[in-house]
Amino acid sequence: MTSTSTYNTQAPAPPRVLPPRSFLHMSARIISIANQKGGVGKTATTTNLGASLSEMGHRVLVVDMDPQGNLSSSLHSSNGTRSTVADALLDRKLPLPIVPVYERDNSGFDLVPTSVALASAEAALANKLGREFRLRDQLNTVADRYEFILIDTPPSLGLLTINSLVAAQLVLIPTEARYFSLQGLQMLQESIDEILYINPNLRILGIVLSKFDRRLREEQTVAAYLRENWGDLVFETSVGTNSKILEAASAGVPLVELSGAQRAVETYRSLAREVLTRV
Ligand SMILES: Nc1ncnc2c1ncn2[C@@H]1O[C@H](COP(=O)(O)OP(=O)(O)O)[C@@H](O)[C@H]1O
Ligand SMILES: [Mg+2]
Repeated sequence: MTSTSTYNTQAPAPPRVLPPRSFLHMSARIISIANQKGGVGKTATTTNLGASLSEMGHRVLVVDMDPQGNLSSSLHSSNGTRSTVADALLDRKLPLPIVPVYERDNSGFDLVPTSVALASAEAALANKLGREFRLRDQLNTVADRYEFILIDTPPSLGLLTINSLVAAQLVLIPTEARYFSLQGLQMLQESIDEILYINPNLRILGIVLSKFDRRLREEQTVAAYLRENWGDLVFETSVGTNSKILEAASAGVPLVELSGAQRAVETYRSLAREVLTRV
């Protein structure tokens, strides 16, 4: 009786194809814009920092992870995609939906839109395997196409924010200069410490005073306190209160597209330059 061995004792042949592009090129810097407090300027920062980086020639993707969809409406795109980030989080076989922000093609400024369905997707995710890694895995498939991916997060520390922090290398924290904001920063720091268990590379990129009213004594005091305690982590650029920022969001365009918004545009350019020196 002859027996043929089922074991292959030969060394495996070397791969004949080159690794995919994503292994050859630097992939995107992924920055989560987070603060569990609402109305502090997360969406305005994502929109206008994204637009400034894009204006400087970088390929930028902004991702709307807030079911309220403020980022999607702040960057109203006429490209009528039906699918949203919610679909891609629930089913890994679906591609991440990406639409251009500007009508003109190849501007290199793209958006992953959301809808209110993301709220029910968050509840559904809670019972799924790999629930914290869903966004990271989806972004990995497109990261080699961009230099920056900015993720706008909801005002909570739930699963959508956790997904955003797990997917990112850096967190940018917009805040108001109010006493209650300091408490919020403490909570966010604790959440980031927890995230380090599954994303040990996560770092704070910086804190930006995003709706700073320098005429108010409380704001001056809190700003000084922040700079004293968080040191260089606080960006030198602070975004003053400016009605053009509100106006642009309502009009569904980045500030750079709005006339008469030069001062606010310059502020975000200055923030973008600081971000570039830090990454
Ligand atoms: N520097 C600013 N000056 C004036 N209004 C601002 C400024 N930054 C944001 N806003 C407005 O304040 C509101 C809350 O800002 P937003 O970016 O949506 O906060 P968040 O995403 O943290 O909830 C929005 O209507 C926005 O247009
Ligand atoms: Mg928002």
